[in-house]
Amino acid sequence: MADFEDLQDGKNFYLDVPQTSPAFGLKGCGSLEWGMKNRLARIFDPSDGHTLMLAIDHGYFQGPTTGLERIDVVIPPLIPFADALMLTRGTLRSTISAEMQKPAVLRVSGGQSILKELSNELVAVDIDDALRLNASALAVQVYIGGVHEHESIRNLSQVTNAGNRYGIPTLAVTGVGKELTRDARYLGLATRICAEMGAHVVKTYFCERNFERVAAGCPVPLVIAGGKKLPEFEALQMAYRAIQEGAAGVDMGRNIFQCEDPVAMVQAVRSVVHGKESAAQAYDLFHTLKASRRTSEHV
Ligand code: 5RP
Repeated sequence: MADFEDLQDGKNFYLDVPQTSPAFGLKGCGSLEWGMKNRLARIFDPSDGHTLMLAIDHGYFQGPTTGLERIDVVIPPLIPFADALMLTRGTLRSTISAEMQKPAVLRVSGGQSILKELSNELVAVDIDDALRLNASALAVQVYIGGVHEHESIRNLSQVTNAGNRYGIPTLAVTGVGKELTRDARYLGLATRICAEMGAHVVKTYFCERNFERVAAGCPVPLVIAGGKKLPEFEALQMAYRAIQEGAAGVDMGRNIFQCEDPVAMVQAVRSVVHGKESAAQAYDLFHTLKASRRTSEHV
């Protein structure tokens, strides 16, 4: 039975203080439901609206990718420096500790391999399984201009509709076939279609010219993939320029885990994404961290 003893009337109603309506600053996301916003706020740091997502989902179509042969060994030391982890359910269940405090962005499209047509994907993960895995977002590949463009847009719609029922945002990943040019015109087309179809976040590639137009034309946050492994300074410069030109962060994989010192590199990328450091400062940081880690290994 409820305890009614010493029940007192409330007194502190702060009658002179209007109730605050918390704003939600993430681009294009102000009208979303509370759960959706809360999940996005776990991925994008509310203090600057940026994210460093670590992408380790490459095995879903290319098997044991260089640098990801043993995810259980290589990835745990990087997790403290990432804001979110993008990965498949197989990797999450088998190699990542359930005590991880970072949000999981779950790849839910797949169904092809590097041996066949890459755009031939299906929705491979049910929303029920994504909920069981406590996914904070669902990632689906979209191949604008690809052989299976229509099916991939259908996958995006299906995933977004399912995620919307439970407040789980969708990350649309713009997949680019070898035959397509990654220029601002193409990336602008692809990212805008993804956002118009309901994606809450869009992942794309950086382009040298007019990236700011791609970012401005996409009404939701854009994150960039790192693409193939580059020299560290170039990768940091790309991340820096993307942020300066309107990206909300990076969803970077190979340029971190294929680096000679991934722990130093993830911190250097972080300093660009969150620390407002220039590429040159981040590169210095990379070398300092790398050198000090080498020294401590030899002590
Ligand atoms: C595959 C993906 C990968 O997660 C992504 O491209 C990985 O990032 P990076 O290019 O930086 O290795 O979405 O389509």
